[in-house]
Amino acid sequence: MSALFTPIKLRGLNLANRIMVAPMCQYSAVDGEASDWHFTHINSLALSGAAVFCIEATAVEATGRITPGCLGLYNDATEAALRPILASVRKRSKAAVMMQLAHAGRKASSHTPWEGGQLIPVTEGGWRAEGPSAIPHKDGEPPPLAFDAAGLQRVRDAFVAAAQRAERLGIDAIEVHSAHGYLLHQFLSPIANRRTDQYGGSLENRMRFPLEVFDAVRDAFPHDKPVGLRVSCTDWVEGGWDIAQTIEFAGELKKHGVDWIDASSGGVSPLQKIPLGPGYQVPFAQAIREATGLPTIAVGLITEARQAEEIVASGKADMVALARAMLYDPRWGWHAAAELGGEVFAPPQYWRSQPSTQKALFGATTFGTR
Ligand SMILES: Cc1cc2nc3c(=O)[nH]c(=O)nc-3n(C[C@H](O)[C@H](O)[C@H](O)COP(=O)(O)O)c2cc1C
Repeated sequence: MSALFTPIKLRGLNLANRIMVAPMCQYSAVDGEASDWHFTHINSLALSGAAVFCIEATAVEATGRITPGCLGLYNDATEAALRPILASVRKRSKAAVMMQLAHAGRKASSHTPWEGGQLIPVTEGGWRAEGPSAIPHKDGEPPPLAFDAAGLQRVRDAFVAAAQRAERLGIDAIEVHSAHGYLLHQFLSPIANRRTDQYGGSLENRMRFPLEVFDAVRDAFPHDKPVGLRVSCTDWVEGGWDIAQTIEFAGELKKHGVDWIDASSGGVSPLQKIPLGPGYQVPFAQAIREATGLPTIAVGLITEARQAEEIVASGKADMVALARAMLYDPRWGWHAAAELGGEVFAPPQYWRSQPSTQKALFGATTFGTR
């Protein structure tokens, strides 16, 4: 019996297995609106065998996009652009659809990674980014504007409006993006947050805005649908955010009703030194799970079926999320099921692909002879 292919329930959401397609920016939206690329990409990976597909970091306001090509959910047009994609996914796949709600903060107005990723100046079509403090991500970059109270209220309201739009679109779950050096992580980390008001200084103060946003999203989304959070568990920089603070944060989030913690790392400082290797962030998911009892999702260089199986079976995390391995092998979940003796949903158009040596990979399917 495979642990990876054992069902799990997050609040009211039943998932057939423990595999999630991690959120992945596609930099292919126009004015925040999903494009034909999203139709292809989302439909393809919704058939990967993973129980959940998570839609990429989706900006709650236009100025919260990382790049001009980032997906948004902040007006009727961005909502309308996602609707036919979700309708198609519902028709063809049984995967649950999660959406990652995000705000880039001081990392907004950047070029895409394949254009170099540097900030786009206002004079070249960019916009002025905002962050907790007027400290740039990289030395020499123009500093962001520091949010005042009205700005923070605007961002909270934008998260609420996006969560309401997500519900109208039938999204099954929301992940609040509090990782990778974007806005909420900027508030948590002393590297980006030097505020002297109630949102800066002590750990309690630095957690305040991310917790307010979490509460706002939780309140705006139906009670039976889960809301989790992705966090960077360490900045990988001396004196920055670390796993001890992450565990405190996760403990607070538990009191606020969080349904999972997706344990990632890094992104707030170019000085980070990340010891990359297979499953390098799994110990964070394990530490949070052990300290708080919360469900955790492990992510980062999880590429092999048996590796994923071991993570879940040994109780290091409740689920695994895969990003690059899913792009490389968009049927990763099928192949993992074949290797581990699990079952996945497949559309009838593809049933005949099942290798004759494989027992019931797709459950009860019928095969014609023609
Ligand atoms: C193309 C690409 C886009 C990404 N976009 C996002 C994103 O929108 N939100 C996020 O939290 N992480 C994002 N990530 C990080 C992944 O979700 C994941 O945490 C990371 O790639 C490590 O997992 P992996 O080794 O399975 O790729 C992105 C990664 C890739 C490769």
